Amino acid sequence: MSKLIINGQRALSGAAEIQGAKNSALPILAATVLTKGESVLFRCPDLSDVEASLGILRYLGCTAQRSGDAVVVKSEGLCRHDIPDGLMRKTRGSLVFLGAVLASTGRARLCFPGGCEIGLRPIDLHLKALRQLGAVVKERHGCIDCRAVHGLKGAQIALPFPSVGATEDIILAACTACGTTTITNAAREPEIRDLADYLNRCGAKIYGAGEGEIVIDGVKSLSGCNHALIPDRIVAATLISCAAMTGSEITLKGVIHSHLGAVLPVFEDAGCAFKAVENELTVKAPVKRLRPMKIVRTMPYPGFPTDAQAPLLAASTIADGTTVFIENIFENRFRHASELTRMGADIKTEGKFAVVEGVPRLYGAAVEAVDLRGAAALLAAGLSAEGRTELSGVKYLERGYERFEQVLSSLGADVKKI
Ligand code: UD1
Repeated sequence: MSKLIINGQRALSGAAEIQGAKNSALPILAATVLTKGESVLFRCPDLSDVEASLGILRYLGCTAQRSGDAVVVKSEGLCRHDIPDGLMRKTRGSLVFLGAVLASTGRARLCFPGGCEIGLRPIDLHLKALRQLGAVVKERHGCIDCRAVHGLKGAQIALPFPSVGATEDIILAACTACGTTTITNAAREPEIRDLADYLNRCGAKIYGAGEGEIVIDGVKSLSGCNHALIPDRIVAATLISCAAMTGSEITLKGVIHSHLGAVLPVFEDAGCAFKAVENELTVKAPVKRLRPMKIVRTMPYPGFPTDAQAPLLAASTIADGTTVFIENIFENRFRHASELTRMGADIKTEGKFAVVEGVPRLYGAAVEAVDLRGAAALLAAGLSAEGRTELSGVKYLERGYERFEQVLSSLGADVKKI
């Protein structure tokens, strides 16, 4: 089992290219099963979650291989409609294969997905929507069996909550359905727009992705296409946190500033300064201690992203005052807090609330990550801490951050994987 050894308190400098977005890669890889022909996905990050999706594609009968930063997928008629437990458990993103495989073959049999333990993560919204599109859905023995013998039919679907995964699943199921589907209260995350951009390039007719109402006119078939994934806004937010915690100035390359609309003002409140030039963003930490960020509420996009909560919370541990976090998306997303307290942080959590009293500095310690963004938070904390931090649970980091220790080392951090 690998660990990261971090010798903290090294200032960062220089520039880092932001990887492609994991949360775009997973639904777009699932979308390839709807197409006939070849798709080339550029800037597809080399992550264990992406590998898991490639494994599912190969199991289903597609060819899927990596070529540099691109992944090439050829799907010509799937030979299977089932995805076994072992493959499903590797990533939560595997759930979006449900809509795609069902639309492609008229049947999908999947076991419940895996992913980080950050809450209950029910899938009721996915299943209800697929039923509305005409599927017969049965849940048995930890698996879901969906059938649409006469094909899927367009429907009006009003989501009670703008679930990212459910919105993606509906888009995938609806784009080759008969007739028009309308999703109201759809998730507006940039990754939804990226999925629709890919599918529209393949011949789909999806309108309004990125807004609260999405209209999908079903088409008969889709071809493959070339598509470059959007940059990963959560990786960008994590690097901003690393810079803020180490009193550094770094430049992020290949950023879409508007995707960080709710993130940058919070770091500005903490005293960071930003300079945006075209697709580059320079962050400069304050000379003095970070200021507290008062209250941070996670919300669906365009609100503050739940995925950036953990790295920001790490930064707040060394701010000069109190920051309150309200986690509105997942029930169990403060698991990094107890590990941060081992490093000297002062954090109290109760349900969806965390109260962080900033301390002057953190100290290196042996800590263990138990989920993806928590791992990133502990790594950022280790960079700022006095002394040596030994971070285990690196497999969680590798679900979403591509060779992150190398990225940080290139910026001057002392991080080694052993
Ligand atoms: C996606 C992202 C994840 C991010 C999250 C919220 C991917 C691969 N993952 O996860 O990184 O943290 O969006 O931005 O893109 N819910 C239900 N029933 C459902 C579906 C969801 O109650 O059928 C609830 C969830 O338990 C959670 C909330 O809705 O409390 C948000 O979940 P959702 O937006 O679906 O997140 P994911 O798609 O799982």
